[in-house]
Amino acid sequence: MKILVTGGAGYIGAHAIVALLEASHEVVVLDNLTNGSVEAVRRASELGGGEAPFIHGDIRDRALLDRVFAEHNVEAVMHFAGLKAVGESVEQPLRYFENNVAGTITLCQTMAAAGVTRLVFSSSATVYGDEHPLPWHEGLPTGTPSNPYGRSKLMVEQLLGDLAASDARWQIGILRYFNPTGAHDSGLIGESPQGTPNNLVPYIAQVATGRRESLAVFGNDYPTADGTGVRDYLHVMDLVEGHLAALEALAQHEGVHVWNLGAGRGYSVLEMVHAFEQASGREIPYHVAPRRPGDVASCWADPTKARQELGWFTRRDLRAMMEDVWRWQLANPVGYV
Ligand code: NAD
Ligand code: WQD
Repeated sequence: MKILVTGGAGYIGAHAIVALLEASHEVVVLDNLTNGSVEAVRRASELGGGEAPFIHGDIRDRALLDRVFAEHNVEAVMHFAGLKAVGESVEQPLRYFENNVAGTITLCQTMAAAGVTRLVFSSSATVYGDEHPLPWHEGLPTGTPSNPYGRSKLMVEQLLGDLAASDARWQIGILRYFNPTGAHDSGLIGESPQGTPNNLVPYIAQVATGRRESLAVFGNDYPTADGTGVRDYLHVMDLVEGHLAALEALAQHEGVHVWNLGAGRGYSVLEMVHAFEQASGREIPYHVAPRRPGDVASCWADPTKARQELGWFTRRDLRAMMEDVWRWQLANPVGYV
């Protein structure tokens, strides 16, 4: 099958390219490079043993998308393109809504015009809000995300639901990611944040190399075993394998389908620090800082639905996640160059 991968020059998209090529799919990549790298696409193509033609462009560019669908025989879209920095979304909400929501609308309009109606969308566990008991399962009503980024994901989920209800041709998979981390085990592709990392594992990795002095642990008075926040971390290669499974399942299913992609268990910030110390053999200096506004104490998935309907579950453990991040970090201390 020929797949258009939007945001394929980014962290998760590049890993998806590897998995798609390995599964003998054809790939076309579209990315505006606001947070991606052409080198990631090049390395992913090499790892996947195939070609992934790269188009430098924006999902909001209707004419460009029309051309892409006219020139390539695309059968499905994996839609990773989006802005994802929570703090930045609070400062620039309109930019986030325009990029993530309006961009997805333009993408869907051009898909419909081209008769391409199979879509896998990168959503987030943030759409559950924080009002439900754990673990979170897909049958729960969505909640109130605490920031514009999260609301942009919820809006897209809602518009995709309305779209599928209006036109039975659509086959849409909404994948709610918990906390992706890890890297390809070659050490050639991984997460390459610009500036100061917002997320825990990239920050820890930069402390391990000495690029940052100490990790700020955001709160140690949460109602968790050691007082620090608990999250459901999953390996990015497991995550992208979930996308392939969803793509296949959609071939038999019309309408919208929601699947959690998580491991189904949580680790605390301090457990993550210790796991990274073990994987890297380095000490991670840390200090306790105030809670980060908007953070929930704990969050983990009920991944039963994906296991039952997609035959998908996580296979790589915390040790593999940390060893793979460390390999990537050591080989690429300042990311792609
Ligand atoms: P990323 O920033 O590494 O990748 C996103 C890519 O999209 C980047 O290469 C960027 O240049 C590109 N992009 C952004 N806006 C674009 C536009 N208008 N047109 C074309 N390209 C555009 O992020 P990621 O971690 O790989 O995340 C991929 C998707 O998964 C995003 O939609 C993100 O919101 C979602 N997601 C990520 C996480 C996470 O923790 N990484 C969790 C839940 C959901
Ligand atoms: C994990 C834990 C922090 C950094 C975010 C977005 C979510 C999704 C994934 C995607 C928390 C603690 C972190 C640090 C710390 N985004 N922490 N010191 O907040 O679960 O999810 O990324 O698209 O929408 O909200 O992930 O990695 O930021 O934090 O103590 O320097 O680590 O408080 O408990 P989070 P995270």
